[in-house]
Amino acid sequence: SLRRQVSETLSLFRLKEEQLQLVKARMRSGLDAGLRSKSSSTIKMLPSFVYLTPDGTERGKYLALDLGGTNFRALLVRFKKQTSRLYHKIYTIPLEIMQGTGEELFDHLAQCVCDFLDYMGLKNTRLPAGFTFSFPCEQSAIDTGTLVAWTKGFKATDSEGHDVVSMLREAIKRRNDIDLDIVALINDTVGTMMSCAHEDQRCEIGMIAGTGTNLCYMEELKNIEKIEQRATKTEEKTQKGEKNENAGAEKNKKDGEMQKMCINTEWGGLGDDGCLDDIITLYDTEVDQNSINQGKQRFEKMTSGMYLGEVVRQVLLDLTRRGLLFKGHVSETLKTPGIFETKYLSQIESDRLALLQVRSILQQLGLHGTCHDSIIVKHVCLVVSRRAAQLCGAGMAAVVDKIRENRGLDHLDIAVGVDGSLYKLHPHFSQVLKETVRVMAPQCDVTFQPSEEGSGKGAALIAAVARRKRDV
Ligand code: BG6
Ligand code: GLC
Repeated sequence: SLRRQVSETLSLFRLKEEQLQLVKARMRSGLDAGLRSKSSSTIKMLPSFVYLTPDGTERGKYLALDLGGTNFRALLVRFKKQTSRLYHKIYTIPLEIMQGTGEELFDHLAQCVCDFLDYMGLKNTRLPAGFTFSFPCEQSAIDTGTLVAWTKGFKATDSEGHDVVSMLREAIKRRNDIDLDIVALINDTVGTMMSCAHEDQRCEIGMIAGTGTNLCYMEELKNIEKIEQRATKTEEKTQKGEKNENAGAEKNKKDGEMQKMCINTEWGGLGDDGCLDDIITLYDTEVDQNSINQGKQRFEKMTSGMYLGEVVRQVLLDLTRRGLLFKGHVSETLKTPGIFETKYLSQIESDRLALLQVRSILQQLGLHGTCHDSIIVKHVCLVVSRRAAQLCGAGMAAVVDKIRENRGLDHLDIAVGVDGSLYKLHPHFSQVLKETVRVMAPQCDVTFQPSEEGSGKGAALIAAVARRKRDV
């Protein structure tokens, strides 16, 4: 029957507990492989050079620049004894700049910074700044990092393989009307973790479920084999009288001060070696094929805001072509990429919405169907977003169990700073995520703390910590 055909399609998205356990295990081996080697893991495990969590003694004025999903945010953060104050402005990044040249993109960012400083009346000062740049960067210090590859919708040319801090500095120099002291480059996950750690000492994980998906956590320095190797090499070099770049870190480690470093996992890359092929559906493959980074970020494409609506659209297209939906009429709208933004998924899945309202949302999108069509569409949205939350939950379970084992504990109590439009706006995502972590990591108690200020405050905190260290 028709109903059976629809339900068979939807069942492709329903993961059994064993399948989720497999995802957890694969995430775990990806994390371990990424710590060992610089290039042979799909999970990059990028060292952040953030060792310390804030201790509440941070003071002063900092600038935070935040290039994340679709927007660029400039913030001024002022830390006082008990409080922090925050001013910010949001700038949109036009598509032609996201996909133009690197120089144009960074000129645009510098233009926004200039506008912000002007607006705050700070154009003639030289403030310390933290730069949140939410893409994978291979860092060699807290204030340098080369872009490994663009993700999400970005594709500016001549940027991959370049140091993004230098690119921003050069763009500022080209303008010659403002000055900045960029002291830290950080991922949004790291900023989110830091701003939550400011409130809760147990916070040692940062997670983003938004346009993209990613996670960072505090890892024991001794487990980050690829850094140990580098440190040993520099030690050898030093003996030959060459400059030892890692001497500071090594010394501090011996002092016992820096035993953990925050690692940006870039877990969105899980599956890029085919390890998720057994759960990837033909709809996921279609979404991947239509993306600007084919074959990359397969986990991210099953779990984050930029892609979930596209997965839904591919399912609807297929059901319609098979005559199971919209009376078999494939409209132009349905063929248009990007019509189902996360906010529509959130609305359609809202429990408070009556079916007629769902139908009217679909109509506004240009999809005219019966109430029965609306039921099917809602079901498609539900299974796609549920799978996303479960996959993130399985990934999270791998991380918390790893941290628990690192510490030789039977039970771990830990907090996660979390942000992103999918987590914050979707009616079920966060609940399914938490429930999955509870079931899949029964020896861990994981508290989720939504970040209030985005990663901007975290970037400012890291800038404060970085400057404190530099000044010592
Ligand atoms: C915020 C950050 O914490 O969350 C951004 O300030 C980040 O940099 C964002 O990218 C993720 O949200 P979204 O939903 O806009 O991708
Ligand atoms: C993408 C980026 C990653 C970022 C995440 C969330 O996965 O590669 O660096 O943290 O999106 O914004």
